[in-house]
Amino acid sequence: MARIVGGLGTSHVPMIGRTIAANRQQEVSFRPFFDAYGPVHDWLERVKPDVAIVFYNDHGLNFALDNMPTFAIGAAHEYRNADEGWGEPEPRIFRGAPELSWHMIQSLITDEFDVSTCREMLFDHAGITALDLLFPGHDVPVATIPIVINAVQPPLPTPARCYKLGQAIGRAIASYDGDRKVLVVGSGGLSHELGEFGKINEPFDRMTMEKIVAAPEDLTRYTNDEIVDLAGAQGLELMTWIAMRGAVAGAVDVISSVYHAPISHTGGAMMLIEPAAYG
Ligand code: DHB
Ligand code: FE
Repeated sequence: MARIVGGLGTSHVPMIGRTIAANRQQEVSFRPFFDAYGPVHDWLERVKPDVAIVFYNDHGLNFALDNMPTFAIGAAHEYRNADEGWGEPEPRIFRGAPELSWHMIQSLITDEFDVSTCREMLFDHAGITALDLLFPGHDVPVATIPIVINAVQPPLPTPARCYKLGQAIGRAIASYDGDRKVLVVGSGGLSHELGEFGKINEPFDRMTMEKIVAAPEDLTRYTNDEIVDLAGAQGLELMTWIAMRGAVAGAVDVISSVYHAPISHTGGAMMLIEPAAYG
């Protein structure tokens, strides 16, 4: 049986990927953000997940405004990366897990989530940054499944809907026959609005991180407009964390957590949780 062994929420900024690619994590002002990944790397070594499901928001790479799925799942044998031009220096290939993808798609559609199914999909910096942070400087040893949430073009899914999507993914994983250890990643946020400096709302970000651990349902009461008011237009990327937490159901333990602001336009936030019953 497949099971969820952990959940990672992380900010994504192209500069993070560039810093890792240059191996300069100890030289930059946001070094504490990287340092908090030390316990994450120890955890990966100990728990050894097989698959990473990565919730993120596509930044115009796969989906432009003329064709915008609310939720889209990759079902490819492999994924390549590409970016808007700031990010990853090298084209790379990430192994997929198509059997598990198709199982999840079937399970989601039975569960009344009519997701878009993508036989081809590109990872943009949102997906890649998370994978680089998890496995800096070497090939990604886990199979990957991208799940894109529309956080760009209204009408947007609500936080409550994204939480339910995560719960449905949790059910899909629990009903998969193959023996897999799954890490669920939410890559986004926290508060920021590109093009507008000073949109970082640190108290909101810190409150959000506490709620992700102890009371995620509280976050599902926000409307999208309220999140934009509090956390900026790109603060909507928080929905990726909410989906991640929906998948990692029940009480959790925090393995590592950090908030370091700013990194570029946003608060550098990271949190690795695992089900309290595990380990
Ligand atoms: C930045 C943040 C993002 O979420 C993103 O997708 C690109 C850049 C930034 O803070 O620079
Ligand atoms: Fe982003």
